[in-house]
Amino acid sequence: MGLGKLEFKMKICILTIATNKYLRFVEKLYSDIAEKFIPEAEVNCLLFTDHEVETSDNVRVHQIEHEPWPIPTLKRYNYFVKEKDFILEHDYCFYLDADMRIDAPVGEEILGDLVATMHPYQSFYPKEKRSYDRNPKCLAYVPEGEEGEYYYAGGFNGGKTKNFIAMAEVIADRVNEDLRNDVIALWHDESQMNRYLIDNPPTLSLNPNYCFAEEFIGSQQYPYKNPTIIALKKNHAELRS
Ligand code: GAL
Ligand code: MN
Repeated sequence: MGLGKLEFKMKICILTIATNKYLRFVEKLYSDIAEKFIPEAEVNCLLFTDHEVETSDNVRVHQIEHEPWPIPTLKRYNYFVKEKDFILEHDYCFYLDADMRIDAPVGEEILGDLVATMHPYQSFYPKEKRSYDRNPKCLAYVPEGEEGEYYYAGGFNGGKTKNFIAMAEVIADRVNEDLRNDVIALWHDESQMNRYLIDNPPTLSLNPNYCFAEEFIGSQQYPYKNPTIIALKKNHAELRS
C-alpha cells in the first residue's frame, strides 16, 4: 500500500470593502467569483464592512466603521494590514472593488508576484498628462516627467500575499502620514499604489480588460470589446451619500 498522492489546492483570498450602500453589490460579486474566479483554487473572501452580514464558510467579515468618502477607499491598505495574518495564510490575494462584475472566466493568467491592471485610458496618455499625484507635499507625488511605465487602476490588483502585504504596509504608513499632514492624494489609494508601483514595478501588468469601465464598452475609442472584469456604471453622488 503506497501513500496516496496528496493534492494541494492553491489558496486565494479576495479582498473587498463595502460600507454603507456599497453592500448592495456584494452578493452578485461573490456569486461571480464563485462561478468564474480561478475555480480550481480554494477561494476565500474577506469583506470589510460596517454591516452585520450573514456569511458562509468561505467568507470572513472584518468590521470597520463607515466614514465619509473617500476615507473607506483611502484607508483600504490600513484595513488589509489589520488582516495580515489571515491574508498570509493564502498563496495569493486580490483586491476587487465591490462594484465590479465578472463577465468571463478569470484563470491562472492573472497570477504573479505583484499584479496590477492598466487603467483603461490613463495608461495610454503621455506620462505628463496622467492623473498621478502632482503635489510635492504628498507621499504619492510623481514629478511630471519620465516616471511611470503605466498608470494602474485601483479596482483590481493583487499578487503573492507576501508581496502584496509588503506593498500594503508601505502604503498604509504613507496614507497615515499624509493624513497627519492634512494631505490626501489626488486619487487616494490609487495614487499611492501608482507611486509604489513606479518604485516596485509589478511583475505582471494586466491589460485593461481586467478593470474596464462599463460606460466605455462598445466605444470606438477603446479596443476592448469583451472585457473580463467590469467596473459598473453607477451614480456616485447617490452611492456615497
Ligand atoms: C476614473 C476612475 C477613477 C480614477 C480616475 C483616474 O475614470 O473612475 O477611479 O481611476 O479615472 O484618473
Ligand atoms: Mn469602483
